[in-house]
Amino acid sequence: MRINSIYLLRSIVSLCLLLALALVLPAQPITTTTAQTSDETARCLACHAPRQIKLVETWETSSHAKNGVGCYECHKADPKDTAAKNGHFSFSVQLPVSPRTCAECHPAQYESFAQSRHAEAFETIRNVPLRTQSPALFEQSCAICHGNDLRMQRGKALDNTWPNHGIGRINTDGSRGNCAACHGHHDDSMARARSPETCGKCHHGDVGPAYEAWKASRHGNDWHLTAAATDLNKSDFKPVNEDLKRPDCFVCHLAPSTGIASATHNPGERLSWHLATIHSEHREDWGEKRLAMQQSCRNCHASTQIDMFYRRFDASVLEFNRLASEAASLADNSKKHTKIKGAAMKGKIGAAMLSPLHVRDAVETLIDETPSEK
Ligand code: HEC
Ligand code: HEC
Ligand code: HEC
Ligand code: HEC
Ligand code: HEC
Ligand code: HEC
Ligand code: HEC
Ligand code: HEC
Repeated sequence: MRINSIYLLRSIVSLCLLLALALVLPAQPITTTTAQTSDETARCLACHAPRQIKLVETWETSSHAKNGVGCYECHKADPKDTAAKNGHFSFSVQLPVSPRTCAECHPAQYESFAQSRHAEAFETIRNVPLRTQSPALFEQSCAICHGNDLRMQRGKALDNTWPNHGIGRINTDGSRGNCAACHGHHDDSMARARSPETCGKCHHGDVGPAYEAWKASRHGNDWHLTAAATDLNKSDFKPVNEDLKRPDCFVCHLAPSTGIASATHNPGERLSWHLATIHSEHREDWGEKRLAMQQSCRNCHASTQIDMFYRRFDASVLEFNRLASEAASLADNSKKHTKIKGAAMKGKIGAAMLSPLHVRDAVETLIDETPSEK
């Protein structure tokens, strides 16, 4: 009996102490960082800095931290949002960060990105059979690159839809896409966004070997030689003014050039063909889009080389259209059809990004499937 009441007294005392601590802590945030932060972020840091040590260290070296953009500014939530965890030490917070949150401070990048195929990438896979037949395998494959339809309740993900950082993620606020597919979660270094490996983590292999094709070309082959001597972290990076003598993905597809003043977040603005298919067709307003891509070639090449490249590239696309369409018309099962489509994509992407190996492999596969060509 005596022991029990001492125990009870002790429990009450420690409970009071804990309560007092909880009240005091938020009011007097312990400053754990040299970065200038809002009062709200200072409170997040008091608890989170000793817990997610490396995460917070990463953020501390970002330009966000240097400019007063902290935990609260990105993770604050609308209490009505299904992703919101309400009553989190008097805050509403959320784990996923929607592109609309980034858009509060980067509206131009958001607008441009929202018009791209990247933002539509989940729509491309919304109805694939795997999503209903084997959701677990869908989440671990297609959804990692294309994105998922994020469904949440009081801050917790339903049906394993999160973690997901695919490029076309459907967010709980209805927006499409995900800036963190290319930018780090807490590391906003520009060198990372501009690295070919960032694009290459999705654009490789059977789904479209753009990374390998670039790597095998004269552009990619020794890209690192001049890249190493270039400050890829610079904020105002115009390739034509820099020391980079060979291009990687962002130089041709997104960056400003001699003729185009600003960067884009929509790579489709510079493409004239739809290449990822058996029978490629031109895009709408393809002439203008091609001119936009040619502006980036002009940073380094003379007109004749650029014109000859496009003549040869167009001729190759038409030739692959012919070979692949004929092979597809003879294909008597879906496995063969997939193989032919893969070869057509490989060959066309190889021709676009100047890889002789990819073109050769594709030609061999397609001729194998087309008796009349042998
Ligand atoms: C009094 C301490 C405290 C404060 C203040 C605090 N957090 Fe937390 N937070 C925690 C703890 C503890 C967890 C659980 C961590 C874990 O699971 O490892 C957590 C979890 C989270 C999560 C993940 C939620 C989940 O469901 O897993 C997010 C996001 C978050 N906090 C953001 C914030 C933000 C943003 C702020 C400031 C506006 C903040 N927190 C303020 C202690 C705090
Ligand atoms: C520039 C915006 C930004 C800032 C500032 C920011 N975060 Fe994040 N954070 C993100 C993004 C983006 C993700 C990825 C979540 C998603 O969208 O699925 C993320 C994910 C997280 C996660 C879950 C992922 C994991 O690895 O556990 C935690 C916890 C988290 N942030 C805590 C913090 C804390 C603490 C701070 C302050 C030091 C902070 N964040 C500052 C954008 C930000
Ligand atoms: C509250 C405003 C705010 C929010 C929210 C915000 N940012 Fe920023 N961001 C800034 C500021 C300020 C800078 C530093 C100044 C600059 O370079 O524009 C910056 C810098 C950056 C940079 C580096 C730019 C450079 O030239 O070095 C990137 C990339 C970036 N933000 C992406 C994001 C992404 C992605 C998100 C959402 C996950 C996000 N930001 C959310 C304000 C914000
Ligand atoms: C997280 C995965 C992911 C990353 C990272 C990524 N992409 Fe993509 N990209 C995709 C997917 C998926 C598609 C196909 C979208 C669709 O049509 O559904 C695509 C489509 C494209 C297209 C065709 C666009 C169109 O209009 O048809 C280009 C070009 C492209 N990406 C270039 C890039 C470049 C350059 C980078 C790096 C700066 C990059 N991507 C980073 C997944 C990614
Ligand atoms: C490694 C990342 C990645 C994974 C995993 C992935 N994709 Fe893709 N997918 C891409 C990229 C990148 C493109 C754009 C290819 C291009 O335009 O060159 C694409 C394009 C597509 C396209 C349009 C072009 C076409 O082939 O018809 C479809 C459909 C597609 N993916 C379906 C799927 C399905 C279904 C899955 C899962 C079984 C899947 N993808 C898994 C990255 C991926
Ligand atoms: C020298 C400039 C250049 C570089 C560097 C470059 N590309 Fe391309 N890319 C092109 C051209 C040109 C096309 C075809 C444009 C057209 O259709 O008119 C193309 C097409 C593509 C497509 C096909 C889109 C479709 O129609 O399905 C994808 C995807 C792509 N590039 C991704 C990448 C990635 C990822 C990298 C880096 C690993 C990269 N590119 C590097 C010039 C470049
Ligand atoms: C496909 C990969 C990719 C995605 C997705 C992406 N970015 Fe970027 N972002 C880049 C690259 C590459 C650059 C560097 C462009 C340059 O140097 O011209 C960049 C540059 C930036 C910058 C620096 C200023 C500028 O425009 O050069 C900001 C800010 C930024 N992005 C914000 C965002 C926001 C916000 C989103 C989501 C709405 C987003 N990004 C989505 C690849 C991406
Ligand atoms: C940043 C500079 C740069 C940009 C931008 C650039 N190139 Fe190149 N390109 C080079 C260099 C350097 C070489 C290799 C020449 C050498 O080794 O001296 C090259 C080689 C080539 C070759 C010859 C390939 C071979 O295998 O012989 C072609 C064709 C070509 N580029 C076309 C293009 C096209 C088309 C574009 C735009 C879509 C483009 N380049 C953009 C720098 C560039």
